[in-house]
Amino acid sequence: MKAVALTRYLPTYHPESLQDMTLPTPTPGPRDLLVRVEAIAVNPVDTKVRAPKDKIEPEPRILGWDAAGTVVGIGSEVSLFQVGDPVYYAGDITRQGCNSEFQIVDERIVGRKPQSLSPAAAAALPLTTITAWEALFERMGVEMPPRKQRRKSILIIGGAGGVGSMAIQLAAKVAELRIIATASRPESAAWCHEFGAHAVVNHHQDLVSQVHALGFEFVDYVLILNNTDQHAPAAVQLVAPQGSICSIVESTRPVDIAPLKQKSARFCWETMFTRAMFKTDDMIQQHHLLNQVAELIDLGILKTTLNQTLSPINAANVREAHARIESGQTIGKIVLERF
Ligand SMILES: NC(=O)c1ccc[n+]([C@@H]2O[C@H](COP(=O)([O-])OP(=O)(O)OC[C@H]3O[C@@H](n4cnc5c(N)ncnc54)[C@H](OP(=O)(O)O)[C@@H]3O)[C@@H](O)[C@H]2O)c1
Repeated sequence: MKAVALTRYLPTYHPESLQDMTLPTPTPGPRDLLVRVEAIAVNPVDTKVRAPKDKIEPEPRILGWDAAGTVVGIGSEVSLFQVGDPVYYAGDITRQGCNSEFQIVDERIVGRKPQSLSPAAAAALPLTTITAWEALFERMGVEMPPRKQRRKSILIIGGAGGVGSMAIQLAAKVAELRIIATASRPESAAWCHEFGAHAVVNHHQDLVSQVHALGFEFVDYVLILNNTDQHAPAAVQLVAPQGSICSIVESTRPVDIAPLKQKSARFCWETMFTRAMFKTDDMIQQHHLLNQVAELIDLGILKTTLNQTLSPINAANVREAHARIESGQTIGKIVLERF
């Protein structure tokens, strides 16, 4: 099969950082699907894994954790899918990724592809959708209507990125929260409004005073989708008594959560690979949530976050997508389609 893979960890401008290769098609294990990949999206995790280091891989390593395609083979214990089913999924960081013509993936972390979307529009979604959904509804415990309490508020830091574009939609359309998003440029601010943010503030300026100026002393939830070191102090100040902060981005120093004690507020982490990585008992929840989101897409309640498409899927285009992600300024998702 065709694959884009690496054996050395190099900067994107280096032609060997990601190379076109021909590799054997993998064989599915008992609960695996063999998927013919039709479109892939690129995420910051790809660039973090590819980041230059001395390590050399004995076998080619395939990156990529966002795909849409068709099931072409199934393992002996598969019960959720059949050959011919269109699917979308993020996959498992501990296995080979999706930047190849065929991929094996555990059926419990795969969803049925939204019928109303092309493979490219569907491939934009799974990794960021799982992250945003788990952060909001599972880690922070955001309630879905009909709710018992007043309409709550959320600050989404990094609103126009891949995760932010889905988090804003889920907060607006599924949870019906009042949403303040952050963006630093007119085009990223406009994108946040388009996806459902009620107000936008600039993450390169003081967040506390900007949120206060909007009439909010506190917000019930703070979702940190960029630079935890930079934003945690403001999140700790702004979170409401009994509120929640969730970050999806690693910090380089300890987050000071001591001031949250008085407010009985919580700080939690979200890592969307946790379930697959640790084979948790409930990993099938990702299958269910992807199916639920596919339904919300097909009902027209949520929409794809696809913004830029490259074709075909080859090393030069994957390197280009990595370089754009590394700029830190992408809006929505970059997708590659067709081998
Ligand atoms: N834990 C997990 O499971 C998980 C899952 C997915 C992603 N992540 C991580 O979450 C982060 C975001 O992922 P993503 O896919 O949404 O990234 P992305 O699409 O690359 O995010 C790009 C956006 O970041 C915004 N941004 C740049 N600098 C910022 C800053 N200092 N503060 C706030 N926003 C800033 C930009 O907005 P402007 O152009 O307006 O400045 C841009 O629109 C990455 O570090 C990624 O690795 C973690």
